[in-house]
Amino acid sequence: MPALVLIGAQWGDEGKGKATDQLGGSVDYVVKFNGGNNAGHTVVIGDDTYALHLLPSGILSPGCVPVIANGVVIDLGVLFQEIEGLEARGVDTSKLVVSADAHVIASYNRVLDKVTERFLGSRKIGTTGRGIGPTYADKMNRVGVRVQDLFDEKILRAKVEGALELKNQVLVKVYNRKAVTVDSVVEDLLSYVDRLRPMVCDTGLLLGQALDAGKTVLLEGGQATLLDVDHGTYPFVTSSNATSGGACTGSGIPPNRIDKVIAVIKAYTTRVGEGPFPTELDDGDGERLRANGHEYGTTTGRPRRCGWYDAVIARYATRVNGVTDFVLTKLDVLTGWDKIPVCVAYEVDGVRFDEMPMTQTDFHHATPVYEYLDGWTEDLTTCRTFEDLPKNAQLYIRTLEAMSGAPFSSVGVGPGREQTLELRPLL
Ligand code: IMP
Repeated sequence: MPALVLIGAQWGDEGKGKATDQLGGSVDYVVKFNGGNNAGHTVVIGDDTYALHLLPSGILSPGCVPVIANGVVIDLGVLFQEIEGLEARGVDTSKLVVSADAHVIASYNRVLDKVTERFLGSRKIGTTGRGIGPTYADKMNRVGVRVQDLFDEKILRAKVEGALELKNQVLVKVYNRKAVTVDSVVEDLLSYVDRLRPMVCDTGLLLGQALDAGKTVLLEGGQATLLDVDHGTYPFVTSSNATSGGACTGSGIPPNRIDKVIAVIKAYTTRVGEGPFPTELDDGDGERLRANGHEYGTTTGRPRRCGWYDAVIARYATRVNGVTDFVLTKLDVLTGWDKIPVCVAYEVDGVRFDEMPMTQTDFHHATPVYEYLDGWTEDLTTCRTFEDLPKNAQLYIRTLEAMSGAPFSSVGVGPGREQTLELRPLL
């Protein structure tokens, strides 16, 4: 039985939560392998809407074990807030397991994230301000605090002391902020330890044994391909590997056990935060996409930047992730346009690029080469099969599929569980 990876193909917010939720019923484990509470998943079940930031969407599927793996950075306050919020609504969260190797977001890293952004001014990244970047930086600098450190107060104190030695200098001398005390950080982290302890395990071992026993494991990526720290639009990226390779390092499941890579892709494109975005629309069409698609961040509430579908990005996502299946989302949002532009290549200083340009400078200067596809006026939200769709919507899907490098397995026409048209089975 397989290990499946599910990632975002664009700049995030493609609708991964819904796709995971859809698969959640048929998988045994849903694993979050990167990012932290910078992610935002909205899952609609019947009349209930759940907005999750840190917990894997699998938490909403009874029978499924949700796993927060080693590649994640955890804000413990948010973790328990989300757990309590779900329990209060009758969702059973008792199966959740957390890796002993995951890093925790200490309060000083939330402070540093915000003050650094302010300090950067016009060069800011537009982070979610949740302390994600500084926590991953600590991990790479080998001064991070891991979940397992909370089980040994002496070690925890020594690690926090070590980290604060430098950070307090920076906070006070560079940013003119108050120093953070070791006691306050240690006390804050230890306040969660009794509730955390029963959830913690060696998640790499757990998942390896689960695969040996024939269980199905879904590895759910936070953020998306173009926000990946290596393969995204650096430096306007998140600080983890959101592409399929990150699923292996972030979970301890090796590459040769991955059977499928499912990429979720919106029928148009959005981005939050700063950074290049060739098909971005600064006009009425952009406003209309934002309004029709409710394009406001789940985590920060920020309005998302909107633009047309970009097939160059789709092909790039296919190549970098080894996409085997695309899940196309939010097709219904495109109803009502006479012609729908689709970006098939870029032009940079008069030169055509069919693939992503090598340098960030070129990508910043890329202007889209559009093909114009015929639109439709019919409401798609009640369609339940591909054949129910108007001919031009069918053609839109098939044209995008031919340009994007991998087969489209399903199409979303609304947020509800039932508003998904299956083109070929995912499992
Ligand atoms: P950070 O992850 O908070 O460090 O933010 C870095 C960049 O990634 C910013 O442009 C954020 O807006 C973006 N980002 C982080 N998480 C998400 C997400 O879940 N969806 C979309 N963009 C995200």
